[in-house]
Amino acid sequence: MKQSRRIVLGITGGIAAYKAAELARLLLKQGIEVQVAMTEAATHFITPATLQALTARPVWIDQWQDAQGMTHIHGSRSADAIVIAPASADFIAKLANGQADDLLSTLCLARDCPLLVAPAMNRQMWANAATQRNVQRLAADGATLLGPDSGPQACGEEGLGRMLEAAELARDVLAFLEGKTARGDVGLKSDLQSDLPDLRGVKILITAGPTYEAIDAVRGITNRSSGKMGYAVAQAALEIGAEVTLVSGSVALTPPRGAQVVNVVSAVEMFEAVKREVARADIFIGVAAVADYRVAQTSTQKIKKSDAALTLQLVPNPDILAYVAALPRPPFCVGFAAESEKLRAHAAAKRKKKNVPLLAANLAQDAIGNDDNELLLFDAAGEHRLPRADKLDLARALLRHVVTLYQKGKKK
Ligand code: CTP
Repeated sequence: MKQSRRIVLGITGGIAAYKAAELARLLLKQGIEVQVAMTEAATHFITPATLQALTARPVWIDQWQDAQGMTHIHGSRSADAIVIAPASADFIAKLANGQADDLLSTLCLARDCPLLVAPAMNRQMWANAATQRNVQRLAADGATLLGPDSGPQACGEEGLGRMLEAAELARDVLAFLEGKTARGDVGLKSDLQSDLPDLRGVKILITAGPTYEAIDAVRGITNRSSGKMGYAVAQAALEIGAEVTLVSGSVALTPPRGAQVVNVVSAVEMFEAVKREVARADIFIGVAAVADYRVAQTSTQKIKKSDAALTLQLVPNPDILAYVAALPRPPFCVGFAAESEKLRAHAAAKRKKKNVPLLAANLAQDAIGNDDNELLLFDAAGEHRLPRADKLDLARALLRHVVTLYQKGKKK
């Protein structure tokens, strides 16, 4: 790692180009030298003068502007990375195909340093098979994808394709320069195998974490679920292109990028959120540790202590998974079973009772709060063991199984 860190910030034509100014500012603040290179299209969205003033360096635009015409070669030689933000669909296509018809694309082709790419485009452009092919090829060639994120877009539509915020990009670029990989990229990662299942266009609804059932203003009934498994399932689903809605109880985790998150507290709130979202879902995965009971009468004030015994009356909560599975046109349903004993017998019975095609069973004492786990899957064909692994790897293996069954079901 060089002492003074330096990046080339490549800006291409897209409305997200305005965020590049803030990105440059944040990186400069971290002591990183920033040399800006823009495509001609980018100059229609943000002026070179803005970037020049921020970075105190002339902005590179025209490949013919320097007398020796060697900017494209020496431009990347002293850089620790080239960061393209925003990267338009067109520019990604150029990169994937090794085209070099302007200064920035030539710089990228001639580089001898890592390439980081932050896509920014309309959701349909992102979902287009050509873009996905290009992105996959870029990742296979060793580029690091930062995002994209999902949310409202400048065109008025909503979905996956918007560029990450400048602060998120700055954090990821810094992490990269410090030798770590960026966390939580939604993009296809270069370390993923080409035999990955493909869930593009498929909507997955996931519940995660514990629920909290209030007793009074300050006390409640909850459980030790950390939400790690549910969040790992969401992350794994995003990696293979699914649109993910994550209905989450209170957890101390950062949601995976690109997931649409609905935060809830109690089982009833989780139930209401699932009822609202389920019509759009193709697959439902209930990972949440939902409290089976809630207090019949919650007190809005803190209950005062007395010498008498206190009895709390508990009433059953709705069974969210069973409700979804019993819908007239249910999504493909996957349940989890946390058991403390007789794993096989309880899990097989639970699968039948809740009427779900797939149930992932684990020992509660093994799973709760840990970073790794193992699962026993139950489906119509019988039992399948997913050996002990980190929760994200386990979630990826689970999703392979889910996708196989889901696609088989669709063909019928
Ligand atoms: N589940 C749910 N709603 C509930 C209870 C459970 O959606 N009110 C879901 C969980 O998210 C999980 C599955 O049902 O996918 C099984 O949860 P688990 O706690 O193992 O089983 P329970 O149905 O609660 O049965 P028991 O507590 O008797 O084991």
